[in-house]
Amino acid sequence: MTNDSRKPVMAGNWKMNINHLESIAYVNKMAFSLIEADYARTEVVIFPPFTNIRSVQTVIDADHLAITYGAQDISAHDSGAYTGEISGSMLKKLRVTYALIGHSERRAYHHETDESVNAKVKAAIKNDLIPMIAVGETLDIRQSGNAVDHTLNQIQGALKDIRSNYVSELVIAYEPVWAIGTGEVATPQDAQDMSLAIRQKVAKLYSQDVADKVRILYGGSVKAGNVKAIMEQPDVDGALIGGAALDPDEFLRIIRWPDQP
Ligand code: PGA
Repeated sequence: MTNDSRKPVMAGNWKMNINHLESIAYVNKMAFSLIEADYARTEVVIFPPFTNIRSVQTVIDADHLAITYGAQDISAHDSGAYTGEISGSMLKKLRVTYALIGHSERRAYHHETDESVNAKVKAAIKNDLIPMIAVGETLDIRQSGNAVDHTLNQIQGALKDIRSNYVSELVIAYEPVWAIGTGEVATPQDAQDMSLAIRQKVAKLYSQDVADKVRILYGGSVKAGNVKAIMEQPDVDGALIGGAALDPDEFLRIIRWPDQP
C-alpha cells in the first residue's frame, strides 16, 4: 500500500453466517471499538447476508457510523419474475454502497460466468452501487502455470463495455480459490505479483491514471497474524476477509493492520 490516493479497504464477507439479531450485536461492537483514527486510515466494509442489511443499516444510520456495507450478490435484472433474486434498486434503497460480484463461491455453486459477472457489474453501476469484483484461479490452474492469464481474462470479461470513469472507482478482489477458507494463504509476494498484473491489465485496457485509482484487495485466509505483510505490498490496497471477519474482535485487529506483528 504505497499510493496515497487509494484508501485501504478492509471488507468482511460474512457469507451465509450471522443472523440479523447477531448482526446488530456485531455492528454495535464495532461501533464501540472503532475510533476516528481507524476510520481515517481504513475504509471498513461489511457484506452481511441480504436478510441482515436492514438491521445493519438501522444501527449504522442511528449512530452515524462511518462503516459501509455491501450486498454479497446482485441480480443482473431490474425487476420482474426472477424468484429469489434481489435487484440493484432494492439494494440502493437500503443505502448499500458495494455489490460483491463474481465471488468464487458464486462462480462454483451458481455457475456464474464472466458474462453474468459483467451483466451484474452493469446492474450495479446502473444503480449507483460500486462493484467489488472477485477474481482468482483454482489450484489446478495455478499448478498448470496459467494463474495470471486466467485471472486477467476474468478481469477483461468483467469489465467488458464498462466506461473508464466507473472503472477507476471500483474495487477488484484477487482471491486465489485454493486459499479461500483453507488456511492456505498466498505469500505476500504472490499477492503483490497478481495485484500488479491486474493493475497493468487495467492500464492496458484503460489508462495508467485509471489503473492508479483502482483499489485491489487480496482475499484468502487473511487474519490478524498475516495481514500486515500483505498490506505492505505496494499494489495491495486492502483485504476481503471471510472466516476471520466472523469474529468482530479479530476483524478489528485486521482493521488495525499496522499494529499487527
Ligand atoms: P476466507 O474467505 O478469508 O475465509 O479465506 C475469503 C473470501 O472468500 O472472501
